[in-house]
Amino acid sequence: MKKRAGITAMGFYFPRYYVSIRELLIARGEDPARASEGLGVQRMALLANNEDSITMAANAIESLEFPKEKVGKLVFATECGLDAAKDNASYVHELCGLPNNCEAYDVKAACAASTYALWQVIDWILSGRGRNKLGLVICSDIAVYEYKTGAEITGGGGAIALLIGEDPEIIDFDLAIGDYKNNVKDFWKPLGKECAVVAEDGKPSIKSYLDALKPSFKNYIENGGQKKFDYLVFHTPYAKMVIKAFKELSKFLPEIQGKFDTMTADSLKAPALVGNIYNGSLYLALASLLELKGTSAKGKSIGFYSFGSGSSSKFFRGIVNPEFESSFGLFEQLDRMEKIKPKHYEQLRRGERTLKETKGFLLNGIDDQGYRQYHKE
Ligand code: HMG
Repeated sequence: MKKRAGITAMGFYFPRYYVSIRELLIARGEDPARASEGLGVQRMALLANNEDSITMAANAIESLEFPKEKVGKLVFATECGLDAAKDNASYVHELCGLPNNCEAYDVKAACAASTYALWQVIDWILSGRGRNKLGLVICSDIAVYEYKTGAEITGGGGAIALLIGEDPEIIDFDLAIGDYKNNVKDFWKPLGKECAVVAEDGKPSIKSYLDALKPSFKNYIENGGQKKFDYLVFHTPYAKMVIKAFKELSKFLPEIQGKFDTMTADSLKAPALVGNIYNGSLYLALASLLELKGTSAKGKSIGFYSFGSGSSSKFFRGIVNPEFESSFGLFEQLDRMEKIKPKHYEQLRRGERTLKETKGFLLNGIDDQGYRQYHKE
């Protein structure tokens, strides 16, 4: 029988605080329809001062129950690496008490790093080198844009942990993958900068996302990919980008025309409640879709479009386990987030106020040699 590998469990961490984008735009005297109708964004998740990409990742792993001693590989996908030499994965490996006989490292390819990581772990299992162990893919990012720019309200943050194993309980993947790589000056984040640089107010980044769709899909078909999809999920920087992508895909996959509401709309609900979480965005879209479709998703085929600025993209397909039953409690977790007032958000951005988290893994500080210190509350 064919050996299979895929996602066996998903864990989530979202920051405690958010600002309502509608309230923020109204408070600024701007038209809130730019957010609701123009971009399809509702909330922006905000990190506390004592959180970072490492604490979010460790908290996402801790939300899962699994035999830690069975983990043989951890791949951390982020565009929020915190040291040019030391990987985020080393800190998380220690915080979560993972075994020493385990590979653990970071990968970087903007928002597509999570998909590169996923396939590295799947290939490790399918090659037999995993020796029946489990793999972990961590997607953890903070999306912060320059204050009062067009991109600002598409910010967000959060982490997703994907537990990867044989005979996956959630989703199994076909081996046909379409790849497309193209060096583009669209979006980048110079070392040491908190905010990404978005070229020409974001127009090249939208073009680059859409331009990569056709060649990656074409390559997927050339590599033996099947054209049958019950659902489609896309990297989701904000909902409107996905609406545009679905329309673009329907030009060369006419059978999906007019099916956005049944095939994709549910994948946009959770991302709209936290904003762009970069590497986790595609997998948050998947979780949102699965949570809302419930048991009707059993055995269904899902097409995935992963995109990372710069640019890297992959098109691939997965099949939901015919016995898939689990609910992630995703929307309950999102409901527990606490809203802050627009005026407090403005103070945060101007450096006049900070937020503090009191639960889970927290950053204690950074010593005078630049080494990071954490603890768990
Ligand atoms: P913007 O300044 O909000 O653009 O920037 P806009 O004012 O032109 O408005 C956007 C849409 O809202 C337009 O509709 C407007 O017409 C409409 P569209 O032409 O798209 O159909 N609109 C309104 N509608 C109703 N009522 C109104 C109203 N006002 C405007 N009053 C942009 C948008 C995406 C460029 C900006 O948010 C940005 O630069 N974001 C960051 C980059 C980004 O998200 N790019 C997306 C593709 S690349 C990607 O996804 C990768 C990424 O995740 C990073 C990575 O890989 O690491 C970002």
